Amino acid sequence: MQIKIAKDWELRESEVTSEDAYLSRRRMIKALGLATASPLVFSSLAEGATEGFPTKLNKKYLPPKGTKPTEFKYVTGYNNFYEFSTDKFEPRILANRGWKTEPWTIEIGGHVEKPLKLDVNELAKEMAPEQRVYRFRCVEAWSMVIPWDGFPLNKLIKKAKPTSKAKYLKFTTFLDKKAGPGFQKYPYYDWPYTEGLRMDEANNELSFLATGIYGRALPNQNGAPLRLVVPWKYGFKCIKSIVRIDFTDKQPSTLWNAAAPREYGFYANVNPEVAHPRWSQARERVIGAGAFADRIPTLKFNGYQKEVGHLYEGMDLKKNF
Ligand code: MTE
Repeated sequence: MQIKIAKDWELRESEVTSEDAYLSRRRMIKALGLATASPLVFSSLAEGATEGFPTKLNKKYLPPKGTKPTEFKYVTGYNNFYEFSTDKFEPRILANRGWKTEPWTIEIGGHVEKPLKLDVNELAKEMAPEQRVYRFRCVEAWSMVIPWDGFPLNKLIKKAKPTSKAKYLKFTTFLDKKAGPGFQKYPYYDWPYTEGLRMDEANNELSFLATGIYGRALPNQNGAPLRLVVPWKYGFKCIKSIVRIDFTDKQPSTLWNAAAPREYGFYANVNPEVAHPRWSQARERVIGAGAFADRIPTLKFNGYQKEVGHLYEGMDLKKNF
């Protein structure tokens, strides 16, 4: 992965995401009759938002002890979205230059009883989104704490009715060369972006499909309208703007694993004991903590050992990194 560690203080006030970018999706939410702002929601009202997103905070997933949610302007202004740019500040601009993420269809296939084609707005309505605050740890050794709106992946798996042959899930992102300058600028990547999970990982209670952030519809630069969130894994597993999910019997190939298998494993569980070949994973820089803040220690499974540790019992985590 190309890394360019930009510094927190490089994010200027003028780079805060504009309200306009959200208006069309927010109108859609209103039209669905779902816009009932709840006090039990982390919203960005303090930063000028005018509407809530229809989700309720799930109190099982409050900000982890000793953390507070990263400011909205950093979550939506400091991004990795290579379909647009490898620069952290450009996705916010380039993903909002006419790229349409609504309407959006997602197809589900492979080892399922019957392939499905679903409208994402309809799906979100059916799945009754909730809000969960999760830690987020990028493989580049920076971190955030993010209030996501969405629904557990296992709810969608139930709906998809996989057969007994299904052992893995393969996720695929859109491929539209006109929408994303990155496809042509970085032709050496095996587009479209793909990711994968083992079936039991996907069914774990933490695996989440996000449709929003901070009580607002997911901004394009964060992977609108639907992206994966697996908080115990490095951020590159959290594939954005999903168009397909396939249930497979073999471990699927994934973009980063194919590009650099020694650097980016299929599992990619956050692990301070397993260094990336080019840098340590023992500590992390907290985005928004300030230029002179100390890096904090990284936690095994990003602090979610209790929830997911059992999935890897008996596995050599140094080999299966
Ligand atoms: N999904 C797609 N389709 N394209 C990407 O470039 N980058 C990944 C992941 N999902 C990426 C992606 C990486 S490396 C990270 S760290 C997270 O998205 C960043 O998510 P964020 O921009 O919402 O913080």
